[in-house]
Amino acid sequence: MKFSILSKAPAGLPDVRLFTTAQRKALPHGISEAELSLKPGSRIFHHGENVLLVGLGDAEKITADEMRTAAGSAAMAMKRSGRTRFTLHLGEWAQFAGAAVEGMVLADFAYEEFKTTRTRTIEQVNVIVGAHHVATAKKAAVHAQTLGEFTNLARGIANRPGNVVFPETLAEEARWHAKKHGLRCTVLDEKQLRAKKFGGITAVGGGSARPPRLIVMEHRGGPRGQAPLALVGKAVTFDTGGISIKPAADMEKMIWDKCGGAAVLGAMLAIAKLGVKRNIIGLIPAAENMPGAAAYRPGDIVTCYDGRHVEIVNTDAEGRMILADAIGFARKDHKAAAIVDIATLTGAVGVALGESAAGLWSSDDRLRDATLEAAKKSGERLWPMPHFPEYDEAIRSDVALIKNSGGRMGGSCTAAAFLRTFAEKTPWAHLDIAYTSHRNRDGASLAKGATGFGVRTLVELATNWR
Ligand code: BES
Ligand code: MN
Ligand code: ZN
Repeated sequence: MKFSILSKAPAGLPDVRLFTTAQRKALPHGISEAELSLKPGSRIFHHGENVLLVGLGDAEKITADEMRTAAGSAAMAMKRSGRTRFTLHLGEWAQFAGAAVEGMVLADFAYEEFKTTRTRTIEQVNVIVGAHHVATAKKAAVHAQTLGEFTNLARGIANRPGNVVFPETLAEEARWHAKKHGLRCTVLDEKQLRAKKFGGITAVGGGSARPPRLIVMEHRGGPRGQAPLALVGKAVTFDTGGISIKPAADMEKMIWDKCGGAAVLGAMLAIAKLGVKRNIIGLIPAAENMPGAAAYRPGDIVTCYDGRHVEIVNTDAEGRMILADAIGFARKDHKAAAIVDIATLTGAVGVALGESAAGLWSSDDRLRDATLEAAKKSGERLWPMPHFPEYDEAIRSDVALIKNSGGRMGGSCTAAAFLRTFAEKTPWAHLDIAYTSHRNRDGASLAKGATGFGVRTLVELATNWR
């Protein structure tokens, strides 16, 4: 998709025009209010002319998020109707040029790798703003396009099935992209993981014929020796549950259990491309959770990378085991200044918050605030969740330091309490994206499948974290 930011619309292309609730009276005759639901993103083709009208809602409530949705749904409608080149009139909303571009890039993505027929993609969009806004809008558009494209890269990887993306191929993919964007990338294979005593990753990966990996990506944008911000993403390339096997219904959705890892990969590439001026390290523990002959089992006691012993009570609580190793590694080997992990960790977060927000846990107020601020900018909703001593009690073990599940009650909170242990005193934040990472249905501005949730928030956080 190509964007041109202009102050005058070229002739002969279909137009997208935005209107607010108050502006509806000025709309052409023959369009009823019922047709226009007047919700942000509601849209209608004005027949006879090549014009798509898109609602923005009440003028005083318009935010970047409304613009993202409105422009995204416009782009989706345009391409569905075969219009792959069009003009978007931003009018008085030039300050949202970035949001509009982001929305359109995200709307243009569809996962069609294995389809025999492919849908059209958008070729060219002219975004029209006032002459004195062109320069700033251009800058915002370039930035937004980068964020949108790396979010789509994460979506593309996350949507690929478990027989295509597994630890080894994910690592190869990460290496290839890292090289292209000038990131240092090293991969620990199963032998190295075993030798270095990554007990969590090797236990979870043990049941699969496809051995685990730890992907390490380093961005050196800050001064030499600056303690890095560590981004840690869960990449369980497929989660059967292992010996504590999951029911068959919906198990195919567990291809998306690598969304946290994909988000870190996308974020690290965007961070490199944008030249963020701080040291950032991306850690992606990758494993397939299978019930093979060498699988770890309930009752096992696993020693994680930092030496903590964990009693396994449920092999389906595997994400925290691979994250525990990576968090320990970030703290001990990389002396991380702060650790932010992102993971499709618990079904319980969906029960608590639904699909509209990811849960946020943090051991550090400043990091929590910075993460919430970053999420606000990106339009990805996070909701702060608690840490109570009862959660630590729920995961206390009789035979080891802790156990890997605290049961059903407060499942997301006990999972967070588990991870927090491994961060020790390093400021730590955790995003549980189990139900924001993917959508089961096509939306007006986003295709079904992986959403790329987290990429934009992590980049924003990495840019502003001091
Ligand atoms: N990957 C799942 C969490 C998940 C569930 C993500 C549904 C997306 C949709 C995770 O590994 C898991 O199985 N968690 C268990 C934890 C339990 C065994 C303590 C869960 O949520 O049931
Ligand atoms: Mn699981
Ligand atoms: Zn999982």
